[in-house]
Amino acid sequence: MSEHEVETFEAPDGLPVPSPDLVYLVTGQYSIEAFYDNGVIGYDSIVSMLARNKIDQRALATVLDFGCGCGRVMRHWSTCNVLGCDYNPELVSWCDESLPFATVSVNGTEPPLQYGDSEFDFTYVISVFTHLKPELQVPWFSELARVLKPGGYLYVTFHGSSHLDKLTDDDKRRFSAGDLVVINEEHSGTNACAVFHPEGYVRRTFGSILDLVDFVPVGAKDASQDAYLFRRA
Ligand SMILES: C[S@@+](CC[C@H](N)C(=O)[O-])C[C@H]1O[C@@H](n2cnc3c(N)ncnc32)[C@H](O)[C@@H]1O
Repeated sequence: MSEHEVETFEAPDGLPVPSPDLVYLVTGQYSIEAFYDNGVIGYDSIVSMLARNKIDQRALATVLDFGCGCGRVMRHWSTCNVLGCDYNPELVSWCDESLPFATVSVNGTEPPLQYGDSEFDFTYVISVFTHLKPELQVPWFSELARVLKPGGYLYVTFHGSSHLDKLTDDDKRRFSAGDLVVINEEHSGTNACAVFHPEGYVRRTFGSILDLVDFVPVGAKDASQDAYLFRRA
């Protein structure tokens, strides 16, 4: 990545693009073009998950992007009432200035969110639980369930078995036994903390809070993460 790219890259959607430093914060690389292209893939991964479950995207009037970062995927939801939140005020501030159709806010590192019960038809969470320490996993999932309307859907991505090569043999054993594996827990909330979710853990832990509707291994093609779709009864 070079300064040249910063000056010349124009996003095809005509919206502003974030600085390389903000891009690095959320993606771990500096290329704005890759950030943009990857956001399109992330959006398409969601649309594909909705389509294969016969969910009419036009019926999703109010949508939440939890852990929205600098709007990599949120920028593609301009046709509905989209809200975004993140605990990093710098990222939220960029979204506020650059994505006028989105209503954004800063949340705390722990629940609650500022939203009322049952506000959202659809919430998506891309690569956020992958960076949250274990004691925040259930509280945040439950909080997202609270703000979902009955009948609403939650799309969440996790590092699954396609990431096993990043683990030590001990951690691989833990993962295979269905336990959460956490690296650098002390950096929870940042990309330095990496959390790996076995399918069994997701089904057992989150499937007891919301109904699991669909699971696509590496379905989040933007992040090479497993994609899960839940529904509030
Ligand atoms: C890997 S980035 C992904 C950002 C965005 N979802 C995307 O796909 O481009 C992880 C994001 O989670 C946010 N995050 C971490 N802990 C959070 C928390 N407790 N509440 C809200 N956002 C959080 C970070 O600030 C960061 O923007």
